[in-house]
Amino acid sequence: MCGIIGAIGRGEDTLDTLVHGLSKLEYRGYDSAGVALTGDGERIEIRKTAGEIDDLRAALETNRPSGRAGVGHTRWSTHGPPTDENAHPHADCTGEVAVVHNGIIENYQSLRDELVTAGHTFHSDTDTEVVPHLIESALADGADPESAFRAAMERIEGSYAIAAVFAGGDAVYCAREDSPLVLGVDDGATYLASDVPAFREFTDRVIYLDDGEVARIDDDGWAVTTLASEPVEKAVHTVEWDAEETGKSGYDHYMLKEIHEQPRALRQCLRGRVDELGGTVELDELDAPPRPTAVQFVACGTSYHAALYGAQLFQDAGIPAQAFLASEYVTSPPPAGDALVVGVTQSGETADTLSALREAKGRGARTLALTNVVGSTVSRECDRVIYIRAGPEIGVAASKTFASQLAALNLFALATANGGDREALGALRDLPSEVQAVIDDSTAAEVAEHYLDAEGYFFIGRGLNYPVALEGALKLKEITYRHAEGFAAGELKHGPLALVTRNTPVIAIATGDDELARKTVGNVKEVEARNAPVIAVTDGQSDIERYADHVLPIPGTHPRTAAVLANVQLQLFAYHTAAQLGRSIDKPRNLAKSVTVE
Ligand code: G6P
Repeated sequence: MCGIIGAIGRGEDTLDTLVHGLSKLEYRGYDSAGVALTGDGERIEIRKTAGEIDDLRAALETNRPSGRAGVGHTRWSTHGPPTDENAHPHADCTGEVAVVHNGIIENYQSLRDELVTAGHTFHSDTDTEVVPHLIESALADGADPESAFRAAMERIEGSYAIAAVFAGGDAVYCAREDSPLVLGVDDGATYLASDVPAFREFTDRVIYLDDGEVARIDDDGWAVTTLASEPVEKAVHTVEWDAEETGKSGYDHYMLKEIHEQPRALRQCLRGRVDELGGTVELDELDAPPRPTAVQFVACGTSYHAALYGAQLFQDAGIPAQAFLASEYVTSPPPAGDALVVGVTQSGETADTLSALREAKGRGARTLALTNVVGSTVSRECDRVIYIRAGPEIGVAASKTFASQLAALNLFALATANGGDREALGALRDLPSEVQAVIDDSTAAEVAEHYLDAEGYFFIGRGLNYPVALEGALKLKEITYRHAEGFAAGELKHGPLALVTRNTPVIAIATGDDELARKTVGNVKEVEARNAPVIAVTDGQSDIERYADHVLPIPGTHPRTAAVLANVQLQLFAYHTAAQLGRSIDKPRNLAKSVTVE
């Protein structure tokens, strides 16, 4: 997983355009970064360094390359540690070709052995470096740059979005297989990148490449072909969000900005999809779907927590439903009858989730994607797609996309299984303003301050609040590097209670005043008896507050939306804990936003 970019037609601005684009792709990885520029000279100028884009910027200050076309890369290591040598771009022996790559070349070892035997010298541990050498071989055999690029693509197996520039060349070439790649089209300039924010400031016209396609961008624009050189007609799409939406807008971190964007994101998700008078939900994407006999959800990380929530909604509507960790799906029983397999993935590019969906297809199931990214791989591979419409999310730890996933899952369940639930529809209508109220009034920053020295944090909840407990713990561990675990509240006494001490706050979510809430209060009494501090996230309907050291309140509402509101308090608790600990909130160590390897 990495971010790649390419540009031509920006004249002297090419270098700055590339670096700017890389800074927008840093969420895809930030171990090392580099650029390669080509102009009229015989060699390509490459600058690269271990570290983040700012380290690359610093290196460029004293040593600026120039050129009219170029490529750039920000890396999340898969083969070899994050060193200067392993940073992309990688060149061939002659320095005439430079390549950037996102993905994994599975047959790189045998290719490397073959190339070394043929006399090529390698300088990195990466799988990528075989590509420039393969291109070099083809050039030496008399191929022109474009054919040499194609010849290299023919040889490699695995997943890739690859871009290459040639010395003295007047074009940038790219190809995709199982990794995202999009072109940006402007008057006079053309871009390629792993994701639209990389060039959104310059153009809103984009072309999504499909697997097996090769593109050439040059001064005349762009051309897309198959690997076998057959021309492919591509639609030019217009993206509907603007560049400002990918800036921090005065917030200290993207994550905080994105937490604050939730009311707007939720409104976007619901807009035009709910007919409250008629008591129905209309998802254009589904056009009167038949009620499935069963639903299987597949997802990873935060999206898996959303999937657990979605499965409960379908179960409540009488449709058997189960959530699977995508990476474990292959061991699950095949979907029965007319089952629907739903991939929940904000990025739409998570390799584990794509692989589970392909497995499901292979088993004959219908597939549906619930994703944020228009044109993402999942949206193109599934039979149907529901967009959560959260807008771009830059912070690595998912926040607004989780809220929008929960809202979209409600729409999906209502549209498929139990439309006409006016109470649920009313609760969804009120959700954006209630989220706003929670954000405005939250005291999570002050509460967090009391627990900065905690040895660990436990999150508990039941029913729809169980996935929220899991998500609260995941968020905290992702951005604070503190140990945190989420449990079904009833499970705490079956083992984890042994870990509960006065130094391990228990964050308990209890909403409503039903049996689930009452039992959660019972579990809270168990931890209180062990002197553990309790932070209650509650709408005040149960008597949990009596046993709590701190309370993070939410308004009283429907159980479905209460879970979303409770999660907002947990997001803010995690954020403020991390901020007070001085953590790298938007780019937590070892993590990347979009994990395109299994
Ligand atoms: C990565 C991210 C997680 C995310 C997961 C699934 O591991 O670090 O924050 O939840 O991928 O991502 P997806 O794009 O499929 O929702």
